[in-house]
Amino acid sequence: MTNNRITQLFNIEYPLIQAGMIWASGWKLASTVSNAGGLGIIGAGSMYPDILREHIQKCKKATSKPFGVNVPMLYPDLEKIMEIIIEEGVEIVFTSAGNPKTWTPILKENNIKVVHVVSSVKFALKAEAAGVDAVVAEGFEAGGHNGREETTTFTLIPMVKEQLEIPLIAAGGVATGRGMLAAMVLGADAVQIGSRFVASNEASSHQNFKEMVVDSKEGDTQLTLKELAPVRMLKNKFFQDVMELYTKQPTKEDLTTLLGRARAKKGMFEGDLEEGELEIGQISGLINEIKPAAEIVKEIVAEFEAVKKEVSTL
Ligand SMILES: Cc1cc2nc3c(=O)[nH]c(=O)nc-3n(C[C@H](O)[C@H](O)[C@H](O)COP(=O)(O)O)c2cc1C
Repeated sequence: MTNNRITQLFNIEYPLIQAGMIWASGWKLASTVSNAGGLGIIGAGSMYPDILREHIQKCKKATSKPFGVNVPMLYPDLEKIMEIIIEEGVEIVFTSAGNPKTWTPILKENNIKVVHVVSSVKFALKAEAAGVDAVVAEGFEAGGHNGREETTTFTLIPMVKEQLEIPLIAAGGVATGRGMLAAMVLGADAVQIGSRFVASNEASSHQNFKEMVVDSKEGDTQLTLKELAPVRMLKNKFFQDVMELYTKQPTKEDLTTLLGRARAKKGMFEGDLEEGELEIGQISGLINEIKPAAEIVKEIVAEFEAVKKEVSTL
């Protein structure tokens, strides 16, 4: 397997990162992926501060390998979350949804490696200027919150690659070894994979949601709610309710009221497939089975190597 800037930065075997995901990536998934040779990430975005501390402590017990924590910076209790991360000696932090200038210097002072998630070249360069160690560039096809520009991974990665000096991680639409290799051919040093790991045994997401991901086909997701925070989700009843509201020229307040406070939890964690928000990427159309996360890592790595040989004869 590849030994490159990312495997060296994180001290991991494979340049394969399991994305931090609300309601899906707790200590179980993160430690399993880290033990399998990738980088596992705990998604702090759906955890109260005390719950996050518990997940970090359990993850440390479950693996001696490096792991990270993902922090969406719109989190209400951000200072407390960062304090816990520093106190618990977390070595790697992925930040998203906010300005990388605010926390990067503080995290770096505490010897933490910092990666910031972006959806455009402009923000990739801002993150680099803020002093992060690497950037995740996430394309339009990704599950969860996303950029407004609708730039796909296939176009975003080579554009960022042309201008960025620091290591680049591709996200959005990668679920296989073939996809991983493609992203790396386009210029990525590693991939961050979300949707594929939602349908893993160790993900904390509800079984109903996992099964719906497996059953979903091409065209079953859409990016919406751009006026609030653009998010890609499955087209279930809640999504149809959003579409219905759009026919009435809603204000931002109307959309916020419909979204309510706990839609994502209701869908992804409690398994309400009608009223909940079900965040997943376009690549869910290629995911056909719920599997152990270690098996997912193994299969991706094996396919990456096999396809690398295959294309070398082109
Ligand atoms: C269920 C779900 C929850 C997510 N939650 C977060 C999050 O809390 N923070 C974040 O930075 N990205 C989040 N994402 C985006 C992922 O980190 C990742 O970049 C994305 O899933 C990659 O695209 P893919 O789904 O095509 O693999 C989430 C994605 C999914 C599917």
